[in-house]
Amino acid sequence: SVITFISHDGEKYETPLEEGQSLMQIAISNLIPGIDGDCGGEAACGTCHVVVDEGWVDVMGRSTPVEEEMLSMNPERESTSRLACQMTMSEGCDGLVVRLPEFQM
Ligand code: FES
Repeated sequence: SVITFISHDGEKYETPLEEGQSLMQIAISNLIPGIDGDCGGEAACGTCHVVVDEGWVDVMGRSTPVEEEMLSMNPERESTSRLACQMTMSEGCDGLVVRLPEFQM
C-alpha cells in the first residue's frame, strides 16, 4: 500500500499507507517536505495543506466545514484542497495521490 505526494516542482515521494493515521501524521513520519503540521492535527494552522488529485476526490471527499475555516483564508487554495490532518487513512486510500502546494514549501 502506498501514498504518493508530489511537490510543486514534480518531485514524487512515496510513503507506506498506515491505516488509521491521518495523512498529516504519515507525511510527518516520512519527512515529506512542505507538511509541517504545526498545530498537531487540530485543523488550526493550515500547514498540512494538500491538494487531492482529481481522480481521488470521489474517494477522499471534499473539505469539511472545519477545514474550510482554515482553507477559506488562503487565496491560493484549490477546489480540491484539504487539510491532511483531517484525512484519516483507510484501506481504500491505497494509491492515493496528493500534491503539495508551492506556497507551503
Ligand atoms: Fe494544523 Fe492540519 S496540522 S491544520
